[in-house]
Amino acid sequence: MKRNSHNYILIFVSLVTVGLLIFYSSLTLNYLKTPVAERYLLSELDDLYSPSGLIGHGIGFLAALFMFMLWLYIIRKHWNRLRGIGRLSQWLKYHMWFGIAAPLLAAYHAAFKFEGLIGVMYWAMIAVMLSGIVGRYLYGHIPRRRDGHEMSMKQMNTEKAEKLRSLQMEFGIASEDINRLQQLTPQLGNRSTLSALYHLVIFDMRRRHQVKQVLLEFEVKYGAGPMDLSFFKATIEKQIIMSQRLVVLEAVSTVFHWWHVIHKPFAYAIFLVLTLHIVLTISFGFTWIF
Ligand code: HEM
Ligand code: HEM
Repeated sequence: MKRNSHNYILIFVSLVTVGLLIFYSSLTLNYLKTPVAERYLLSELDDLYSPSGLIGHGIGFLAALFMFMLWLYIIRKHWNRLRGIGRLSQWLKYHMWFGIAAPLLAAYHAAFKFEGLIGVMYWAMIAVMLSGIVGRYLYGHIPRRRDGHEMSMKQMNTEKAEKLRSLQMEFGIASEDINRLQQLTPQLGNRSTLSALYHLVIFDMRRRHQVKQVLLEFEVKYGAGPMDLSFFKATIEKQIIMSQRLVVLEAVSTVFHWWHVIHKPFAYAIFLVLTLHIVLTISFGFTWIF
């Protein structure tokens, strides 16, 4: 399947999910607005929308299914036999989607009442979800090959050199301008990890403007044709990105390593508590439609 097809699929299912949740919220508004202790008085609504109600319980199953589905990425990543099935980066997109959708659905399943051990687990789930977003930001700053695996330092330097060569050979950019281009990225030397992370954010915020400035200068000096412009722009942008990533790589890799160390045990704990929740509720006789 083409790379973009996965994006279209995810956009489509996201729109459908958001649409359905808005519709469901409008149906349950009166029930959810009622204080928890009085909800049982609305017996008809309670039978439908409480965590053990017909629809509420069904949503719980769907949320749990999503929670289990996000482990597919982890299985695909660690099980070498599955290497050939799709790119890792595409699997990660589904992991993220399930990781955001599952807590959302779980809130509707719980009718926004988070008590007991499972209530604590719900907040742990939200923490893992938010930490996942931070992890994704860091992940995006570690240069990767097309298959989603990390590049070695040698591959990164080769790619950077290729971009520079292509600017020189294909677009005739003079070596003094190539040097100037490289100097746009400050060398951070032995700065602390925190300072490197600060620079990472600043680089990301300023890059678009920086690329625009360089393009303007180069266009005036070298005059690129409109056909060449998008390739020229992409090459300059990639060159700047590579230089910036190389400068902060050590700090990002360290933080990402520690991020994994914290993120994983939480994820395993959630998995265990969720399994326990399912086993317990079923053993207490909450068997939904079965
Ligand atoms: C991601 C998945 C899930 C999460 C985060 C979750 C979370 C919760 C929470 C926070 C509650 C409310 C606790 C309370 O009222 O004190 C609850 C209740 C409940 N959940 Fe889940 N749940 C999930 C999946 C499931 C599944 C798959 C089932 C079906 C086996 C299920 C069955 C129930 C039942 C029957 C209740 C009501 C228990 C009662 O009224 O005492 N849940 N769940
Ligand atoms: C409750 C939801 C989630 C759970 C239980 C979960 C669980 C996990 C686990 C166990 C890993 C470790 C994979 C490994 O062994 O290398 C992981 C990695 C990751 N997760 Fe999640 N995750 C959740 C939500 C999210 C969300 C919402 C995002 C982003 C929006 C996200 C982004 C990531 C990223 C970027 C990685 C690192 C990928 C890698 O190094 O290969 N996760 N997640």
